[in-house]
Amino acid sequence: MWFSRIWGTQEVSLFLSVLLYVCQLAGAISIRSYRQSLTRSVQQDVLFSVDISCLGIPTIQWTFMSGMVSRDISSWQPGGLTNISEEYTDRVHTYSNGSMGLSDLRVQDAGFYVIRVSELSGSSRDAGFVLTVEEILYEDLQYLSVFTLVLAFLAGFLMLSMWLMDNAYRRLKAWNGRRQMPVNGETELQAL
Ligand SMILES: *[C@@H]1O[C@H](CO)[C@@H](O)[C@H](O)[C@H]1NC(C)=O
Ligand SMILES: *[C@@H]1O[C@H](CO)[C@@H](O)[C@H](O)[C@H]1NC(C)=O
Repeated sequence: MWFSRIWGTQEVSLFLSVLLYVCQLAGAISIRSYRQSLTRSVQQDVLFSVDISCLGIPTIQWTFMSGMVSRDISSWQPGGLTNISEEYTDRVHTYSNGSMGLSDLRVQDAGFYVIRVSELSGSSRDAGFVLTVEEILYEDLQYLSVFTLVLAFLAGFLMLSMWLMDNAYRRLKAWNGRRQMPVNGETELQAL
């Protein structure tokens, strides 16, 4: 008897409607994204592409996380002002579907990027991306190849000049020998 008094039809329906409301709120926000793992090279651009949908006016916030570091990057409401943290000005582009572009990537940009979409009611939803930034040693490699080429050229030049000098020395010796022989002959002849 007490059971039915506590869980009266009114309470049950109220409970159910609250539950439904909460579920609706939670389900009201959706974040669609296709690739959560991205790899780029230094100085390239990246687009964290999402498509959010939300019943009310959403607040979009992007945060960067790597190890112990957690940094707010940007936050905005579609159609409103975009608040971009100082470290990211000029590098961040925001889109009304919630996407965020980051240009001129650095090695330190590698890490996790989390988007949080929240509504005035307080409900929110998160989605995350992993960004890998590869360092290209292209310029270093170019420098190294030029350096190697110069070294090879120098080595070749040294070898050639040594060979030439050796040749010249031998010729000089041979010529000297030929010049001295008749002289010797002459002296011998003279002595006779
Ligand atoms: C979000 O908008 C940007 C810019 O218009 C677009 O490039 C991107 O593909 C969109 N993302 C999704 C998941 O639709
Ligand atoms: C937005 O601006 C406020 C100050 O106006 C600042 O405290 C906050 O950190 C900023 N948020 C982001 C994500 O940059």
